[in-house]
Amino acid sequence: MATDFTEQTATAAVVESFANTPDPRLRELLGCLAKHLHAFVREAEPTIGEWEQAIEFLTATGQKCDDTRQEFILFSDVLGVSMLVETINHRKTAGATEATVLGPFHMTISPRRELGDTIDLVETGPPCVVTGRVLSADGTPLPAAELDVWQASDQGFYDVQQPGVQPQGNGRGLFTADANGAFWFRTVVPSYYPIPTDGPVGTLLTATKRHPYRPAHIHFIVTAPGHVPLTTHIFVAGSEYIESDAVFAVKRSLIVDFNPVDDPAEAARYGLTTPFHLANFDIVLQPAG
Ligand code: BEZ
Ligand code: FE
Repeated sequence: MATDFTEQTATAAVVESFANTPDPRLRELLGCLAKHLHAFVREAEPTIGEWEQAIEFLTATGQKCDDTRQEFILFSDVLGVSMLVETINHRKTAGATEATVLGPFHMTISPRRELGDTIDLVETGPPCVVTGRVLSADGTPLPAAELDVWQASDQGFYDVQQPGVQPQGNGRGLFTADANGAFWFRTVVPSYYPIPTDGPVGTLLTATKRHPYRPAHIHFIVTAPGHVPLTTHIFVAGSEYIESDAVFAVKRSLIVDFNPVDDPAEAARYGLTTPFHLANFDIVLQPAG
């Protein structure tokens, strides 16, 4: 340990202080954190006032957290850290569907529904059908695949944000793919919406003149025996904010056309009348191990 703290000795002293950490990964993480944090301080040279402001921001971020609100994850989201961690941990192999952030609105257990059911219990917006197949990386269908689906309404709110306005479970469903790995369900074309802005992250977005919006999307968690579970979204092609998602979660491969359909026979297949929108998207899971 250095006996004279200087700008030159600081980083080595802190890295060295972790030298006896028994867990080698923890030692590596803390050493790396110290090096990069010190590099940031050396480059930005914050004043004492700025450092105090940063501490106040982090304190407020912690104070905003409770059982249902995770302001630190939101902070990580708007810094692009969540998506970077996600992307590094799901380096695409053999054409598997890309992963995106879970987001804060999964929070309840989705109601079990049958293929073809609607997850839209309020019917205030443009109807649509989402279809696709769940496949293994070699193209084999995965008949036992489970799909947990959730989305915002056409007004841009999740059910949990509007208790008493939307019925519980609106915009949510738990489906099992059929014998060919196929799935299909009815819903409403979702809207873009803002991430929560009533906390420190909202203050940060305002101070930096960033908007809080996410482009329209439908979330999926897809699981199948012997495969790595996938958390992802599909994005509505052409949605507002598709090029400036507040949490950087858009990947080109996840943008899907929600095509308008005027054919009454096709509508009848899904128990709908025209016009409606049709989105088709195959989900490819990576074999485990
Ligand atoms: C969401 O898509 O539900 C979401 C993701 C990250 C932050 C806020 C919302
Ligand atoms: Fe969402």
